[in-house]
Amino acid sequence: MSFPTHRGRRLRRTEALRGLVRETRLSAAGLIYPMFVCPGQKVRQEVSSMPGIFQQSADHIVEECREVESLGIPGVILFGLPEKKDPRGMSSVAADGVVQRAIEAIRKAKLKLLVITDVCLCEYTDHGHCGVIEDGEVANDATLDILAKQAVSHARAGADIVAPSDMMDGRVGVIREALDGHKFENISILAYAAKYSSAFYGPFREAAQSIPQFGDRLGYQMDPANAREALREVEMDLDEGADMAMVKPALPYLDIIRRVRDEFDVPVAAYNVSGEYSMVKAAVQKGWLDEQRVVMEILTGIQRAGAEIILTYHAKDAARWLRA
Ligand code: PBG
Repeated sequence: MSFPTHRGRRLRRTEALRGLVRETRLSAAGLIYPMFVCPGQKVRQEVSSMPGIFQQSADHIVEECREVESLGIPGVILFGLPEKKDPRGMSSVAADGVVQRAIEAIRKAKLKLLVITDVCLCEYTDHGHCGVIEDGEVANDATLDILAKQAVSHARAGADIVAPSDMMDGRVGVIREALDGHKFENISILAYAAKYSSAFYGPFREAAQSIPQFGDRLGYQMDPANAREALREVEMDLDEGADMAMVKPALPYLDIIRRVRDEFDVPVAAYNVSGEYSMVKAAVQKGWLDEQRVVMEILTGIQRAGAEIILTYHAKDAARWLRA
């Protein structure tokens, strides 16, 4: 195989040729749009570090969900900003909780959209950690029961998929068991299986008001330096009953996405997180990057690495560009 018989440029001559031989075809069908639900009515407050992303009351959430559906995006993932926080995050399990109410409103609007919920305590605890605190530490086993109750209450409200993001050991198993015990055996679990302790969550913590009031999340989220450990985490979550596995964040962990894709036969998701979005937005605002090209390159890269599902704040823009 050598020049001049072989010329790589032959297949790059025109868009028709490039399109014909393209290995990765991005589609809105694999995108999930994250949304932040707050209490009240007619509330729509932009997150300062995430231009274009809003904290919104259920009525506005429904409106935006309509737009999301019309763009061909199959689903949303909801994060809740509760009225009240407490040490155990109990507002997260309330039947009239902020996420539960939003799900009901989406269901009432008869949208076909998949509703995924983030199952975690950090948005609901006054200390901002993803579990309950015992002896100054995030207690694993004491957290599991609340997570299971939260997942069941999301399912009861009408969620299609629950996505535990807390990184407590054993949570997928107790959530599966609790769902099955309440006849929600058809509700699937998208496990944030390989979730790294990342500085790229910074803007999200402003959006979700979930900044830890002391310490950090290094004791439960993964060390960014580890790859083999990610495979063990995914394996455990799948053994416990997860239907899909997620890697998060996406861009600094493309190798992890690839390894998880190669190793396991379940759908693989990647979360293109808040900080990854904010970096792009900031550079675009300064006129330093071409937003459309950069976003499409990023999403293509994440899919090429092996993710068939991408959770991204760029979802609506990407869907529009894919359509044009
Ligand atoms: C925790 C959770 C986080 C994100 C999703 N779920 C933040 C964290 O672990 O601190 C981050 C999402 C993003 O940065 O876009 N429940």
